[in-house]
Amino acid sequence: MTPVLEARDLTRDYHIPGSFFKKARTVHAVKGVSFAVEQGKTLAIVGESGCGKSTLARIVTMIDPATSGDMLIDGQKVDIARETLTSDMRRKVQIVFQNPYGTLNPRKKIGDILTEPLIINTKIGADERRDRAMAMLKKVGLEEKHYGRYPHMFSGGQRQRVAIARALMLNPRLLVLDEPVSALDLSVQAQVLNLLADLQDEFQLTYVFISHDLSVVRYIADDVMVMYYGEAVEYGSREEVFSNPQHSYTKTLFAATPRADVESIKARLARKNAA
Ligand SMILES: Nc1ncnc2c1ncn2[C@@H]1O[C@H](COP(=O)(O)OP(=O)(O)O)[C@@H](O)[C@H]1O
Ligand SMILES: [Mg+2]
Repeated sequence: MTPVLEARDLTRDYHIPGSFFKKARTVHAVKGVSFAVEQGKTLAIVGESGCGKSTLARIVTMIDPATSGDMLIDGQKVDIARETLTSDMRRKVQIVFQNPYGTLNPRKKIGDILTEPLIINTKIGADERRDRAMAMLKKVGLEEKHYGRYPHMFSGGQRQRVAIARALMLNPRLLVLDEPVSALDLSVQAQVLNLLADLQDEFQLTYVFISHDLSVVRYIADDVMVMYYGEAVEYGSREEVFSNPQHSYTKTLFAATPRADVESIKARLARKNAA
């Protein structure tokens, strides 16, 4: 099966210009990373702050170009520097960020936030747009009455549900989740993780799930890649990586105490396995 996402030896450099006092320098944020994710699967990318996770997220989401290497979506090579990149290609990959308040326009009602991607990218009429947004609100555990409300009227967890709903409006293949629950309370983290898992099952979504928190990743990932200073120091199935960590950094990461409310996540998985 062709993977939904394939990355081959991706790198990304940032050139930081010099000044009178400082020499110009180059930050090698991502140093040659390769991975593949098949449909319906979750790749977790884990590592401490500054190791290059968000840089990789922006490359995969086609926000920023890679400095070198290849990226393929559904087997098709992506080159964001060229106009050959179609809107169909862009629609396939959507992103959810850590802080939904920063990414939801505070002056727009939820209904407008959800229908905007349809207005920009499709010719769907107003009634149909509204119906789809209403349906998506319910899918993410919100209600029709929320359609006319503003982002500030929601809790952090509800705002993240809105951000997820918006990301799904164009039926993407791949969702990049950059620390999607890191800003939420532990009990709310588990609810949002369970929602993401349900949506993945329903829509056969593929996830790249970025986190600095292994306890979160442990229950939702199929594969795990551990990054350290721009390199993938560990990459394999969840079972492999968790049962037999190779790199000393991963062992240190594993020694940290779990934080997420894993009980309810485990309970969901148990229900799913029993079904
Ligand atoms: N726009 C940028 N300009 C210069 N350096 C950057 C930029 N974005 C990120 N970096 C640097 O690249 C490295 C990786 O950053 P980032 O991808 O944000 O890591 P993470 O998401 O894992 O915390 C860091 O050293 C960071 O300072
Ligand atoms: Mg980051």
